[in-house]
Parts: sequence; C-alpha cells; structure tokens
Amino acid sequence: MSESAVHHAASVEATERLGESLAGALAPGDVLALLGDLGAGKTRFVSGLARALTPGSRVRSPSFTLVNEYAGDLPLFHLDLYRLATGDVDSLGLEEYAERGALAVEWGDRLPAAWREDALVLSFEVLDDDRRRITASTSGARRGPALLAAWRAIPEAP
Ligand SMILES: Nc1ncnc2c1ncn2[C@@H]1O[C@H](COP(=O)(O)OP(=O)(O)OP(=O)(O)O)[C@@H](O)[C@H]1O
Ligand SMILES: [Mg+2]
Repeated sequence: MSESAVHHAASVEATERLGESLAGALAPGDVLALLGDLGAGKTRFVSGLARALTPGSRVRSPSFTLVNEYAGDLPLFHLDLYRLATGDVDSLGLEEYAERGALAVEWGDRLPAAWREDALVLSFEVLDDDRRRITASTSGARRGPALLAAWRAIPEAP
C-alpha cells in the first residue's frame, strides 16, 4: 500500500471543497470508498463531488434509494451500503455504473474485495463538532495511485 495522505476540514464547506477539488481527477470506472462513522461527513463530501461534476445538483443521502445518479459529463453514482447485506451488493449492477461513470460509495468497506482493490479509500474521522480528518489510501496499482496523487496535490485549506 502506498503512503496515506491526510487533509483536514474545519467546516462543512471545507469538506465539500475537498470533494470539489478531487472531482476533476475522476474518470469512468473510478471507485471512491468512503469510510467513517455516522455523521462523519461522507455525504457532505459527495455534495462537493456532485457540485463540481453536475453544477446545480442537490445531494441527498441514498440510504433508502441505494443509488443516486448525478448526470454530468462524467456521471457520478452515489451509493450508501449501510443498510445492505454484503451478498446483496452483487445485485446492484455495479458494472453498468462503472462503465459509465465514477462511483462514490459510503460504507465502501462493504464492497466486494474486487471493487475495493483499486479504490481510493477515504476515511473520515470526527475531531470535534466542526472539524474532520480525512485520510486517503489505496492498495491498487491501476487508478488508485493516480487518485491518491490527485488527493495529495490538493492544497491545504488556509
Ligand atoms: N467539517 C465537516 N465536514 C462535514 N460535515 C460536518 C463538518 N462539520 C460538521 N459537520 C456536520 O456533520 C454531519 C455530516 O453528515 P453526513 O451526512 O455528511 O455524514 P455521513 O458520513 O454521510 O453519515 P452517514 O453514515 O449517516 O451517511 C452534518 O450534520 C454536518 O453538518
Ligand atoms: Mg451519508
């Protein structure tokens, strides 16, 4: 595994901006596995991604719908596996999404191993009410390293 890279976000807006900054590096088939406790900021981060990829979009948690699509030039598929039993991931049809766009997957540790392999894993930690620590890592060899490099290249917020 290549070295992890940390960003801090001192506000919701800062978390969204990190998503916005990473969005430009995404390509079809890319997988972002978002980990962290309830309320850690995973959905806020996806709002930033969607804001960059489909201006004007409004992000809602896909907890009940399982998959939300943001249909920009690069489609973004936002999944939340919290309520899904592990075996049921197979029935989501991830291949079709991955052919068309990028995947941002909350509770992405519940993805089958093959889908986690080359993902950029983003771990969200709550430091206090407003501050979050977001650590990126990958064990992949194909797209993971490029995504990690893009994450690392995001300037630290002032
Ligand atoms: N720096 C921050 N970044 C993101 N969210 C923050 C931050 N500071 C405070 N918050 C608050 O934390 C909450 C994050 O909620 P969010 O829905 O993004 O969490 P989540 O990780 O998606 O949780 P879940 O697992 O339930 O889907 C929001 O209420 C938001 O206002
Ligand atoms: Mg969420």
